[in-house]
Order: sequence, then C-alpha cells, then structure tokens
Amino acid sequence: MQRKHYIFMKKDENNLMEKIVSLCKRRGFVFPGSEIYGGLANSWDYGPLGVELKNNIKNAWWDRFVHRRDDMVGIDAALIMNPKVWEVSGHLQNFTDPLVECKNCHERFRADQIDLKAPCPNCGKKNTFTAAKQFNLMLKTFLGPAEEKTNEVYFRPETAQAMFVDFKNVLDTSRRTLPFGIAQSGKAFRNEITPGNFIFRTREFDLMEFEYFIPVPVHDDDWQAPFEMWRKEMWAWITQDLGIHKDHVHENDIEKAELAHYSKRTIDFEYDYPFGRKELYGLAYRTDFDLKRHYKEAPYKDSQTGEAFWPHVIEPAFGLDRSLLVVLLDAYTEEDDGKGGERVFLKLPPRLAPYKAAIFPLLSNKPELVARAREVYETLRKKYFVAWDDRGNIGKRYYAQDEIGTPFCITVDFDSLENGTVTVRDRDTATQERVAIDGLGGYLSAKLK
Ligand code: GAP
Repeated sequence: MQRKHYIFMKKDENNLMEKIVSLCKRRGFVFPGSEIYGGLANSWDYGPLGVELKNNIKNAWWDRFVHRRDDMVGIDAALIMNPKVWEVSGHLQNFTDPLVECKNCHERFRADQIDLKAPCPNCGKKNTFTAAKQFNLMLKTFLGPAEEKTNEVYFRPETAQAMFVDFKNVLDTSRRTLPFGIAQSGKAFRNEITPGNFIFRTREFDLMEFEYFIPVPVHDDDWQAPFEMWRKEMWAWITQDLGIHKDHVHENDIEKAELAHYSKRTIDFEYDYPFGRKELYGLAYRTDFDLKRHYKEAPYKDSQTGEAFWPHVIEPAFGLDRSLLVVLLDAYTEEDDGKGGERVFLKLPPRLAPYKAAIFPLLSNKPELVARAREVYETLRKKYFVAWDDRGNIGKRYYAQDEIGTPFCITVDFDSLENGTVTVRDRDTATQERVAIDGLGGYLSAKLK
C-alpha cells in the first residue's frame, strides 16, 4: 500500500495547504471568521472539532510543563494590563516591524519580507515604495467611555509580561525557590502588517509560554545549562506530544543583530510548512531585562545567604495555533485503499484526537443492536469524549472518522449480542480485532496513554 506524507515535499505541489484548509472547513475544525459578512482580515474561528483539538493540545502542554513538574506554577492574568507595563517592558518603543507602502495602490508590506527593488506584488508598478517606517504592532483600545489619551490601553502582544509583573505575588504565595517557572496560556494580539497562510499568522492568536527564573549566572554555563535543558524539553514536546517528525523541524540560532530587544540568545524552532520553512516556536534567554525594569528593588532573596537579587530568565514560547497547524500537516495522510480508491486519514496522536473512539451499531434498523451499542457508548462517554454514528454503511462511517483522526471505531454486531465482544478497528492500520465489551475501558486506556 502506498502512503503519502506530503510534508516531505519541498514545494506544495500537492496542494497540501488547500487540502488542510478545505478539510478544516468541511469537518468543523476551523472556519473563516465572520464568514457571512465576508470575513475579517484573516481571522479564523475554531469549530466543534477544532476546539477539541486545540484544548487537547493546550491541556497536554499544561500537563507536561506545569502539572508534571515540581518547579512550575501557572497563572491566568488579565489580558489588558496597565499601559505602564508596555512602556517599561520596551514594547511601546521596540515592538515594531518596518512598513512600506506602495504609492500607486496604497497596499502596505513588511519591508523585510519583500524585495523593495522589484515591482509592487499587488499592482505591478515599479519604484513605488515609500521609505520604510517603524510600525508598532500593539493593538490599541480605550478603557472606559471616553476615547481620550489617558484611557488608552493595549491588548497584550505576549503573555510573558504578566509573569514578570506578578512575579512577587507568585513568589510570596507559592513559596518557590530558584530555579522555578511561571506558566500561562491565553490570547495575544498583534497588529500584523501581513497576516496570512491560514492560522499561521493572525492578529489574534493563542500563546503558551513560561518564564523560567534562575539565579544570576556567574559563568556562561550557569544560564546555558537551563537553556539546553529547555531546548531538549521543547524537542520532546514537539516529537512526543505533538507527534511531529523530527526531520520537519529545524533550529535556527538567531544572529545577534536580529535578536529581540530583550534577548541575549534566541533559538527559533522552524517547521517545513508547505509555504516554506518558518518559525514554529522560540526559546530565548531574556537575562534580567524584564525583572530589572519592573522592580526597583530586587524581588528575590536567597534563603541561605539573605542576598537579594533580580533572577535571570529563560523563556520557551509556543504558539498554540501554529501547534495545531503543524499537528494537522504532519498527521494528514493519503493511502491507496487497495480497491482503486484513496483513504484519507489524520494520524493524530490518540491523546490529541478530538474523539477517542466512535461507536456504531452494525445496522441502525435493528433495535437490539442499537440498544447494546448505545449502552457501550453511554459507558465509554463517562471517561472519554466519544462519537456516535448510525448513519449510512460501516465503510462510510470509517471514512468519516478517519478524516477527523478518531483512533478507534467500535462496532456492535450480532456476535456482540451472543458473546459480549465488539470489533475494534484501528485507524492507522485499518485492521480489526475482537475485544470483550467489559474490557473496552482497559483497552482504550492502554492505547491512549
Ligand atoms: N514572549 C516571547 C514571544 O512572544 P514571539 O516569537 O514573538 O515570542 C512566540 O512569539 C510564538 O507565538 C511564536 O513562536 C509563534 O508560535 C507564535 N506567534 C507569534 N506571532 C504570531 C501570529 N501573528 N499568529 C500566530 N502565532 C504567532
């Protein structure tokens, strides 16, 4: 059987992005936002299956990095913070992209993303670009009824600042000692000049990040060791939890001149998207830049020596929407079904799949089969998010579940009524085995680890 993993191909010859966008819309993973009003500038809504996949990724991240560690605590901070935060953090001054405008068609571009000597990509005219000016990416609004300068606030462009601003409160209430981290996931907003490529770059997106606080490094190795630890942990998350093939991800050690204003070293984890190799995640050494700016007095005291100081910070940052996109891209598989047709399935890690199993009565017009299948469904749904389907024939039901990545299909047939077993079909191999109904819970929990 021939199986195609399109992601290995350099160019998107097989229209993988188109297939993913279409599958997402058709099966309720992701829809264009405000579609009945003509959409809104690359905004996307997660549908019934998309929200499950997104929540499963978010929960797996929280589980790995917060619940299963002794050195991490979480917070959930207000999205709109005192504007002083952004002044002090340097975002008001430095969180910018270079913008040029075509004087002919007035389309705007990021100066670092186009060839300024070439004709305008929109209208085709030559020599029409204005000089580049720095454009601040923070999205502004007003708090309260008066649209006055004093009421101006910003939607956060990163979740990180709350971990710095809340540092002292977390420290006082959680009684942690260094090294330890503060994690958060939630919405971030950036007024991107050129959003695009589906959910890859949007103006509203979900971030998952943590700030990992370490003592003031005396030698370089003192920050390089925790940096390396998080580098390995990020690889483990990418390959084990998200199930991404390691060959699809590459590290890019960012050159000094390109570093963000707060970073001494950054590694970007880049993925081979069908539209090119681009950023997936970032790992930065933010030094004591942020804590020093926010706290006049050193916020941490060593319990042994009594010495007060500003801890340094390693920051792994993960885009949730990009995580979901690469999970879909890596999972999308087409296979010759051996009958002249093609089977499309999402080879999602079972833990991330929206439904863990689907339960079918072999025939929907046999009440005794439907009743027994319904019992199985009601029992399993107490522990797992499972689907019910009694429409069409079994082949069509398999096809529908394959396409949304359901790892197991459970069919109740006439033998089930006789001997208390069901067939369980595996998504990836399309093979079936008989399992006792009483043993289904154990079977699934072993497979879904
Ligand atoms: N606190 C550090 C920080 O925010 P970043 O590299 O600017 O770092 C972190 O952003 C991650 O957020 C990126 O690696 C990417 O996964 C995601 N991200 C950034 N901008 C995005 C956008 N416009 N749309 C979707 N995801 C985005």
